[in-house]
Amino acid sequence: MVSVGCAALAALVPACGSSDSGGGGSSGSSGGSSLAVNTFTGTGDAVNGKTLYDGDATCTMCHGPGAVGSLGPNITFSTTAGIGGWTEEQFFQVVRNSKSRAGNTVCKYMSPTADGKPFTVAMVSDKGIGDIFAYLQTTSSDTVNKGSYLQLDSTCSTQ
Ligand code: HEC
Repeated sequence: MVSVGCAALAALVPACGSSDSGGGGSSGSSGGSSLAVNTFTGTGDAVNGKTLYDGDATCTMCHGPGAVGSLGPNITFSTTAGIGGWTEEQFFQVVRNSKSRAGNTVCKYMSPTADGKPFTVAMVSDKGIGDIFAYLQTTSSDTVNKGSYLQLDSTCSTQ
């Protein structure tokens, strides 16, 4: 698991465990990439996750109340229409590093201001992402909704 690697790195790189390692540069030593590494290894708090989802993290703006899909796709925990089969690590990768489950770069609309820049630690911490993931596990809608941004931009693959 990546978080184990981060714990090991923390001994050498103090910033690894701090909440302001948004750049992620120092923790992306393997492979020479600058992808941020998840520092949260605890159990997510679904109640706080809902507060973040509906508030500061702005997810509801695009994924809709209850995560059923709107401008962005259905991200409820439905295994047929949502992200029910996803691991927490895959979820972290898309929110923090714009990496889809298939490893591609998600379209620019999957970002705080639809500008193609992924969510920074200042906007949502690693724990916040874990909390939102816990919240999404309480949601379910089997209605397929890939979101209206899909029509605007063919790089929105929702895979
Ligand atoms: C400005 C609009 C917008 C905001 C805000 C937004 N998203 Fe997204 N999101 C999208 C779009 C559009 C996609 C589809 C991207 C693609 O397939 O290339 C997406 C995709 C995703 C996916 C992958 C879904 C799949 O089936 O592949 C997840 C998970 C996700 N978003 C979570 C979040 C979370 C969590 C937040 C809040 C922290 C958030 N998004 C905020 C627009 C947004």
